[in-house]
Amino acid sequence: MSKRIGILTAGGDCPGLNAVIRAVAKSAFGFGWEVVGFEDGFQGVVENRFRWLENEDVSGILTHGGTILGTSNVANPFRYPVGVRGKPPARFRDESEKVVACIRELGLAALVCIGGDGTLSIGAQLLRKKVPVVGVPKTIDNDLSGTDFTFGFDTAVTCATDAVDRLHTTAASHHRVMVLEVMGRYAGWIALYSGMAGGADVILIPEIPFRINAIASCVRERNQRGKRFSIVVVGEGAKPKGGKMVVKRRVQSSTDPIRLGGIGYVVGNGIEHATGIETRVSVLGHIQRGGSPTARDRNLGTLFGNKAVELIREGKIGYMAALRGSEIVSVPIGEAVRKLKLVPKNHPLIRAARAIGISFGD
Ligand code: F6P
Repeated sequence: MSKRIGILTAGGDCPGLNAVIRAVAKSAFGFGWEVVGFEDGFQGVVENRFRWLENEDVSGILTHGGTILGTSNVANPFRYPVGVRGKPPARFRDESEKVVACIRELGLAALVCIGGDGTLSIGAQLLRKKVPVVGVPKTIDNDLSGTDFTFGFDTAVTCATDAVDRLHTTAASHHRVMVLEVMGRYAGWIALYSGMAGGADVILIPEIPFRINAIASCVRERNQRGKRFSIVVVGEGAKPKGGKMVVKRRVQSSTDPIRLGGIGYVVGNGIEHATGIETRVSVLGHIQRGGSPTARDRNLGTLFGNKAVELIREGKIGYMAALRGSEIVSVPIGEAVRKLKLVPKNHPLIRAARAIGISFGD
């Protein structure tokens, strides 16, 4: 049976989005289906901005970062910002009925939503309005429940690891402490994986509150052993014991208004003050979210995209593609967004890290 399906990418972008779009579209074309791509996430659905995709639209995009469809992390149809574009929104309106109408008018059998917890939570709400949503999990933060890994995470970790490697050589030359702040929101996955792969001496993650004194002891001890430099990797959501996360700004129109950032400087200043050792801070920022996806993310994106089409064929509306071990499975979207997947304190990498003398500042 010929079908029409829709696809959108919403929330923060992420390397591998184009691999998913390509896989969804090419798998669908294989069954003779038509595919419509909405521009800028849910904004395109609310504002009727879309284009019918042809094979040439999705050809040659596998290796490209970002998303050919564009994205938005402020276009929640249930709390849609109203006002002058480019200015902070004055108010919000429920535009979800426009989504229902658009999907009905286009006769879509499914809307493939590629996104993180914000986007998939919107997807779960739309399901209640009978919008036929199928999910694909995306985020560099790897904090979505229901899947072992999200695509984009491996690319971010690879980028952050490269940054740690670069900091190592300059730290060693100048006998300094180098602090690298990485993204990850409330989860420490990027900090843990890149810190371990880069051989950091201290790794600070939101799940394990730190004490500056503990970090300073580790740095001093290394100095006494003749290691006159130290590398500290800190996740943006890390916080001191009894303290709070550092909030850089609030984006009121966003599904998650809080933007973290700045903890690297708190840690760097604290170390310099406590040890007297010259310390420098680098914030990796959006560099870790851009660029070409790694081979792993291209393949994971392709597997997820293909699975999304399989789910539609099987009538599994309301499900999300997910990775369990080496299998691509499906989980109800509602289950995936119920709670964030944080780093467990007994994660094998944490146990191995402690065994080889890496400090978590606790
Ligand atoms: O969720 C992905 C992410 O890159 C987080 O790691 C980071 O905290 C946030 O998005 C940054 O958001 P924005 O692109 O809006 O600054």
